[in-house]
Amino acid sequence: MTKQISSFAEYRKVYKNSVENPEKFWEKQARTFEWKKKWDKVLEWNFDKPDVQWFVGGKMNITENCLDRHLKKRGDQVALIWEPNDPSQSYVEYTYKELYQAVCQCANALKANGIKKGDRVCFYMPMVPELTIGVLACARIGAIHSVVFAGFSATALADRIKDATCKMVICSDYNSRGAKNIPVKEIVDEALKKDCDSIETVLVHKNTGDKVKMKSGRDKWWHKEVDGQKKSCKAAKMDAEDMLFILYTSGSTGKPKGVVHTCGGYMVYTEYTFRNVFQYKKGDIYWCTADIGWITGHSYIIYGPLLAGATTIMFEGVPTYPDAGRFWHVCEKHKVTHFYTAPTAIRALMAAGDHWPSHYDLSSLKVLGSVGEPINEEAWNWYNEKVGKQNCPIVDTWWQTETGGILISPLAGLHKLKPSYAMYPMPGIQPCLVDAEGNELKKKEAEGLLCIKFPWPSMIRTTYGDHDRCKQVYFSAFENMYFTGDGARRDKGGAYRIIGRVDDVINVSGHRIGTAEVENAINEHPLVIESAVVGYPHEIKGQGIYAYIITEEDVDDVAAFKKEVHAEVTKVIGPIAKPDLIQVVPGLPKTRSGKIMRRILRKIASGESDSIGDVSTLLNPEIVTSISDGNSDAV
Ligand code: PRX
Repeated sequence: MTKQISSFAEYRKVYKNSVENPEKFWEKQARTFEWKKKWDKVLEWNFDKPDVQWFVGGKMNITENCLDRHLKKRGDQVALIWEPNDPSQSYVEYTYKELYQAVCQCANALKANGIKKGDRVCFYMPMVPELTIGVLACARIGAIHSVVFAGFSATALADRIKDATCKMVICSDYNSRGAKNIPVKEIVDEALKKDCDSIETVLVHKNTGDKVKMKSGRDKWWHKEVDGQKKSCKAAKMDAEDMLFILYTSGSTGKPKGVVHTCGGYMVYTEYTFRNVFQYKKGDIYWCTADIGWITGHSYIIYGPLLAGATTIMFEGVPTYPDAGRFWHVCEKHKVTHFYTAPTAIRALMAAGDHWPSHYDLSSLKVLGSVGEPINEEAWNWYNEKVGKQNCPIVDTWWQTETGGILISPLAGLHKLKPSYAMYPMPGIQPCLVDAEGNELKKKEAEGLLCIKFPWPSMIRTTYGDHDRCKQVYFSAFENMYFTGDGARRDKGGAYRIIGRVDDVINVSGHRIGTAEVENAINEHPLVIESAVVGYPHEIKGQGIYAYIITEEDVDDVAAFKKEVHAEVTKVIGPIAKPDLIQVVPGLPKTRSGKIMRRILRKIASGESDSIGDVSTLLNPEIVTSISDGNSDAV
């Protein structure tokens, strides 16, 4: 491990050096890992194709760096703490040695079931240790993991299985989340009925023990396959640029795309950012509340912390079960030092009342983190005062599924903080702001579209099975730059504030949802002719989903209709994409070329009908008043 940056002055120096000599800088970080063969070249890149390769020719296995490497020094240190949904159930700890053995056993079971290097394995699981173990077991043998958030529907799961032609699904019987018991295996069965011909095996982890149907020849129990296996397993020799995982994420158009990350660069970058952003010290207990179904869980529950030899917590439950004190209870119970969550959770817990955090002993906390969406000042201040007792720096970390790791963030305790600012780029990251024509805004104080000018080790390599899509979405908007899809402001001192998405992506409770996907789901309803979905400010969720719907006939009971629309969206995507508000409209504002003018719909949904501006270029300007008048009828 390289030395952690330990002052702001040092950050400045390191940053300058990292952008002047990026290859030298990353080579120095990479050298601290275990490689089976050293790289021939640090970096090759071309943003036009795009083709980005780090540590070219290097051979390694990320699990040897997460596990084996630590055995001598910290084999008996706790690597993973699992906190169950039900607080009366006891928690589980794995030392590095135990985790190593569990991963090897699972890796051997995967091999015994025909999984080979390069095969894709889909995970559809709750937040149980077996998810982390299974993911690492794939990496151990060179299989590519594709984790699908267990809140997605059978249809969404099937789409992802088919896109990656997965050979195996690993799931649980049921998922206890709060007071609910979700029939995970049943959802997998339903998904597999939808032409998922590539699946040969379903490995089922017994979680709640409730009864499930097993299809003979296809379905196998985790405990039967894994428990008797040998506790060591040779790690596959991976090329630095071999695929490590696929993770699906939503964009402006079409179906979710499989973002591809590779082994070497992702390893170097997640470890470096984990240690420096959080300023993790030996003995600290780190808790990231994200779900492993999202990138935050991949990079900062599993890989980053384990690469750094940290103790990482995995939480099965939800913030409000059995009550709104659960997070703080867990912090007290495990003496958490680093707590990393999303603004939506902070806002929800803030609304539940100050007495919840004040009821628990939070004195172990040293660093607080925020991720996934802009954090408003009120939430930032509450987090700082009521949780951190004004004693814990807040790292507002900006990044994306595509970036693999944190790109802009304060380093805990080293940077001065400004509420709602993600502050400065990480070493090696060269952000810039551009105008709509792609001209770089050179003045320090500026507002524009956020792009990155130079590659970093954990960046997206391709979108699975469709490289051209990767080029179109991220590298075609502006020449020689990675376009983030976010707008940002930069202050006089060079600190960044992320404003939010500038494309047709809505950020609901920190989850990325494509408007096109929701529209397609709504359009499945037999009464719907056309729909348009936009985001609007929502007190708890950050953004809510607002759907304008044209129907074939008048709808008398809009509330009942909304329920049907919800059922449709839940079926196609999952409950996270249910519209918060729907409005039945006689038409949608369109340009002469037939494009829906979402700008107008966003204004109306946000209660800003007064500032819609010029509508004279519309094909049907009269519709605007009609929609605006009907806004108050939205349910
Ligand atoms: O709009 C930005 C927002 O979340 C988007 C990325 O979403 P996803 O790929 O799901 O990854 C989320 C977790 C890394 C970004 O384009 N976003 C993420 N972090 C922040 C943020 N917006 C403001 N502040 C942040 N700290």
